[in-house]
Amino acid sequence: MNIALIGSGGREDALCRKLKDSKKINKIFCIPGNAGTAKIATNLDINFLNFKLLLKTLKYFKIQLVVVGPEEPLVKGIVNFLEKNKIKAFGPNKFASQLEGSKAFMKLICRKYKIPTANFKICKNKKDFKFSINKFSLPVVIKADGLAAGKGVVICKTKREAFNISEQIFQGKFKSSSKVVIEEFLEGEEASYFLVVDKNNFIKFGSAQDHKKVYEREKGPNTGGMGAYSPAPIINKELEKKIISRIVKPTLKALKDKKQFYRGFLYVGLMIKNKDPYLIEYNVRMGDPECQVIIPRLKTDLIKVINYSLKNQLNKLKLNWEKDKCMTIVLCSKGYPGNYKKGSIIKLKKIKDKKDLFILHAGTKKNEKNIISSGGRVLNIVSKGHNFKQIRKKIIKLIKKINWQDGFYRKDIGWRVIQKL
Ligand code: AMP
Ligand code: GLY
Repeated sequence: MNIALIGSGGREDALCRKLKDSKKINKIFCIPGNAGTAKIATNLDINFLNFKLLLKTLKYFKIQLVVVGPEEPLVKGIVNFLEKNKIKAFGPNKFASQLEGSKAFMKLICRKYKIPTANFKICKNKKDFKFSINKFSLPVVIKADGLAAGKGVVICKTKREAFNISEQIFQGKFKSSSKVVIEEFLEGEEASYFLVVDKNNFIKFGSAQDHKKVYEREKGPNTGGMGAYSPAPIINKELEKKIISRIVKPTLKALKDKKQFYRGFLYVGLMIKNKDPYLIEYNVRMGDPECQVIIPRLKTDLIKVINYSLKNQLNKLKLNWEKDKCMTIVLCSKGYPGNYKKGSIIKLKKIKDKKDLFILHAGTKKNEKNIISSGGRVLNIVSKGHNFKQIRKKIIKLIKKINWQDGFYRKDIGWRVIQKL
């Protein structure tokens, strides 16, 4: 079977490597991929949001299955489009993707099905906002309703800031959002919980914690994620039961009640407060960089997992995981998440991947001679082992060998788990 993987981040390099291990796959195509996926698959540099062009390409290369990495094509209905054209696709359809694509959609499900989440108000216009904001105490969280590439959430310390942000959203800062969601600020510890879902079943797919802030000690603006580790010790058996019964099951029931269903990876973004889980967000895909620390621990063939989901037989599947823990530190371009330069050379030739210490690519490209940076988050250095402190040491030692002058990284990834050791 030929397979295509949509996306170009560290998540896709992790998925690509794992798929490569499967004997059931003939050829893997990454659309568009990066310098990492180019080593093990064929990169096709086309715009995957141009569905017609995508279909032509898939047919040309006789691709029978498409695995979708990022949220944007899912929210825009890539799965519906591919299925209509008789190509199998792993990911949720357009309706179910609203769990990530519209914060208002997700919050209204929470209200109706009594899913624990921050109190909220959906505002359609400025008048609505002006009236509602006074009902919230500070800090308050202001969110754009639709996809905003990680830039649509601001924690506001003053009402003035909240007004300014909402004004920008109403004025069309994000094409995807005409509404603003005001949310109560939740305190606690964040964690991410993952599932693979089919029409009738779901199966747990591990836990992780990432670090969203750009600077050490959780300072500075939010990023896509500066590093992550798995498993997340805060998600113990007792908490897991609560997540399933209070959040996951009611959400899947809500879709069923609308005569809809979910298929694909489901990422449950949580705030844990007094041992109780609150839903912060759903993502309709694997996390990035969470995927890079979960997939390397999975022993089961990923294509088997995907096929069981496509056949609605996840209830018959048992996943096998390595006992080892896993961490990744993201090496970013200086300036990220603000402006940064692209095209700087990264010398990796002398560095050989090992089973327990390896590099996944994200914002990289290969020109004739060199690997060059092409994004904000550039490389993920991943390592596995028994002890997070030792794992982090190994990763930092390797980053020092890379010695890329235009890059930076956080040295304190995993501080929560390392402090507790
Ligand atoms: P979201 O895109 O909804 O996940 O929000 C991005 C990040 O903003 C989350 O990972 C949290 O760190 C933070 N955040 C979002 N909503 C809240 C909330 N209600 N209370 C506290 N922090 C929040
Ligand atoms: N690391 C957060 C995300 O993938 O959305």
